[in-house]
This record gives sequence, C-alpha cells and structure tokens, in this order.
Amino acid sequence: MNGLTRPRPRSFSGMDYPETKKKRNFAGKILLAAMLTVLCIYILKNSSSFTTPTPFSRHEPGVTHVLVTGGAGFIGSHAALRLLKDSYRVTIVDNLSRGNFGAVKVLQEQFPEPGRLQFIYADLGDPKAVNKIFRENAFDAVMHFAAVAYVGESTLEPLRYYHNITSNTLVVLEAMAAHGVKTLIYSSTCATYGEPLKMPITEDTPQIPINPYGKAKKMAEDIILDFSKNSDMAVMILRYFNVIGSDPEGRLGEAPRPELREHGRISGACFDAALGIIPGLKVKGTDYSTADGTCIRDYIDVTDLVDAHVKALAKARPSKVGIYNVGTGKGRSVKEFVEACKKATGVDIKVDFLERRPGDYAEVYSDPSKINRELNWTAQYTNLQESLQTAWKWLKSHQNGYRRSMSLALTY
Ligand SMILES: NC(=O)c1ccc[n+]([C@@H]2O[C@H](COP(=O)([O-])OP(=O)(O)OC[C@H]3O[C@@H](n4cnc5c(N)ncnc54)[C@H](O)[C@@H]3O)[C@@H](O)[C@H]2O)c1
Repeated sequence: MNGLTRPRPRSFSGMDYPETKKKRNFAGKILLAAMLTVLCIYILKNSSSFTTPTPFSRHEPGVTHVLVTGGAGFIGSHAALRLLKDSYRVTIVDNLSRGNFGAVKVLQEQFPEPGRLQFIYADLGDPKAVNKIFRENAFDAVMHFAAVAYVGESTLEPLRYYHNITSNTLVVLEAMAAHGVKTLIYSSTCATYGEPLKMPITEDTPQIPINPYGKAKKMAEDIILDFSKNSDMAVMILRYFNVIGSDPEGRLGEAPRPELREHGRISGACFDAALGIIPGLKVKGTDYSTADGTCIRDYIDVTDLVDAHVKALAKARPSKVGIYNVGTGKGRSVKEFVEACKKATGVDIKVDFLERRPGDYAEVYSDPSKINRELNWTAQYTNLQESLQTAWKWLKSHQNGYRRSMSLALTY
C-alpha cells in the first residue's frame, strides 16, 4: 500500500465509472444482438421464403392438390386412398385425436413417391397453425372431414362439438379465403335433418336437427353457405347417411378408439359382439311403426361415399353450391342389419331386445335422385352382408386396429 487511499467507487446519478460503463455497453450489445437474432429468426420463419420449396408448396399444371382434413380417420383415410389412386396430390392434416397414424402409414407405403402424400400433425382449432399450413402449401381444394362425430357423445359434451365442428370449420374457411383456395367439399350428415315427418329425405327436407352433433353440422353448413353468397368459391356439401364397410382390397378399415365404444355405431357394436369384446347386442326398440318393429336406417358403403367425393370435386364450379344426400335410398331395419352381420361374421351374435331409447327416430333413409342425376353417382356396394364382410375381414386381421404400424416413427 502506498498510503494513498483509493477513491471509493461512488456513483452519481446519470454518471458511471468507465469500467462499469464498458461492461454495461458490452452486455447491452450482446442483448441487442440476441434480440436482433430472435427477430430475424421470427421474420424468416414467418416469411414464405424460409421453408425450402417442396412439390406441396407450389401449384403444378395438371396436378390437383387436395387438403384432406381428418385424413387419419375412417372416411378421410379412404378418401385419401382414392384420391392418391386417381393421381391427386394429397396433404393430410389431422391431430390424431380420433384417427390412426397407422392408416397414414399404410397410405405412405402405398404411395411413397415424392410429392404424392404428406402428413401434417395439427389441430384445426389452432388458427395460427392452420394459417401456417395454408401459407406453406399450395392447395387447390379442401375436403373437410375432420370432426368429432358421435351423436351420443355430443349430447354429453355439446361445447366440444360446437367448437370442433362449427368453430373449426370457420377456421378452415377463413384460411381458405385468406389464401385463395377456391374449392370446398364439406362432410355433413343426415343428422342435420333431425326427425323429418316425411320419408325419403330429399335435400329440401327441412333441417331441424335434434342433437348438438346435427346442430353443429347445420351451423357449419350455414356459415359455408353465407360465405359462398359473396365469394367465387366452389362448394359441395355432402350429407352422408350411415357409413359402413371398408377398402375392398383390405388396406384400410375402421378402427375407432376403444374408449369410444360406448358411443359407437351399430356396425362397431355388431363386430365387437362377434369378437366377444362385448357379450352381445342390445337392440333398443321393437315397437316402431316399421315392418319388423325395429328402426330403419340407410347404410352407405365407404367406397361409394368416397366416389361421391371425387365426383363432387370434379363437378365443383366457381360461385356454385351443390348440396347432396349420399345414401342408397333404401332403408334397412336393425333386425336386418343384425342378421346380415351374423352371416358376415359367421358368429351367432347374442341379441337382447330392449325398450326404445329416447331420441331415436323410427325411419331415416335418403332420396339420392339429385346426386344420381347431377353428379352421375349411384351407390354400387349395396349388399349389406358383403359390405359387412369386407369390414369384418379387415377387422379380424387387425384386432389391435392399426397398432402394429403405430410403432413406426411419426415422420412429417
Ligand atoms: N361415420 C359416419 O357414419 C358419418 C356419417 C355422417 C357424417 N360423417 C362425417 O364424416 C367425417 C369423418 O367421420 P369419420 O367417421 O371418418 O370419423 P373419424 O373419427 O374416424 O375421423 C375424424 C378424424 O378427424 C380428426 N380430427 C378431429 N378433430 C380434429 C381437429 N380439431 N384437428 C385435426 N384433426 C381432427 C380425428 O383425429 C380423426 O382422424 C366427420 O365430419 C363426420 O361428421 C360421418
């Protein structure tokens, strides 16, 4: 020590000692650089030029690129298969909440060539994600299948249904409008008609849905129709009746989640009974005013249904809206269905006949003459037993659904 006392660091307001100041400047520069880097990454990520162009991101003459929402699900996967077979370019968007990645894997194995099929994992309830998908891909048309789709569940969780069906359709439609995608094929349902007084159901039958599922679909239809009044979008709304069957070549099938069994449809219940997963079938209501006292429904094979979509896509025209029932036009009773299922599975399924279930209506079947006439579409797979046999064959060889293929890594 030289006896000199070092001045104690003091600071005055607005003044710093040079060393501290240097350090602060340095830290400030680092912070600024970090902020600028983050900003650049953000701008780049959100600019369309950031992503490497792929066949999916540009329009190509002679190639129609279809966005299939819900393409990992039962109907969506069959539609994607048909589109790919017909040389369309397909992007599947699905959040796998209900569908099976195994179905996508089957499609990828069938069509491995670049630029044929891509899968994007996303939730349609997320507008940012949906917009990003539309920004980064050049779609020519959208087939909007994605939805939760169980009448019983909709009465227990109505908000989920309005959100997933109505609100998500709005998100898709807004993205289509914002990104100039001009063709929409929409999956609607005969549940939008409710309990019509007169059969068969035509497209002019008043729509008075009686459950949240039917109401949510009707609202989605209304949104689409209102939008289409002032737009040049080509819109096709297809109202399906009860969908059964599976790919005749056995590549795809219907594999609903086991937890949805209680809300399931009649074909699933019949197969579960035939497999011994449930002890038997409970047929509710034998005193309806129908020939054998059980309810009557119109069962449409999924192969016919996807054919209707392809025909609708081909006939979709700007500024035009087409609304079509997709059914066979022939009603089959529950008893008839169960007998066909027994024959298709070769199992003598145990059947208990119980009281009516509230909310079930006696008869529902379509008048498909409009779609026959205008889209030149007629149901071909109208043998109930054969459709059930095809579905049963797939199910028997996939008793764990698509689970085997699920072990393969998710690639997207
Ligand atoms: N199956 C029938 O009998 C029937 C009858 C009439 C109408 N429909 C309609 O057909 C369409 C397809 O039905 P399905 O039987 O194939 O059902 P499904 O449950 O097998 O498929 C629906 C698909 O949509 C996906 N999905 C659901 N919500 C999503 C979301 N928010 N974001 C992304 N993906 C989502 C699911 O993961 C699933 O893969 C639905 O719109 C349904 O309302 C079905």
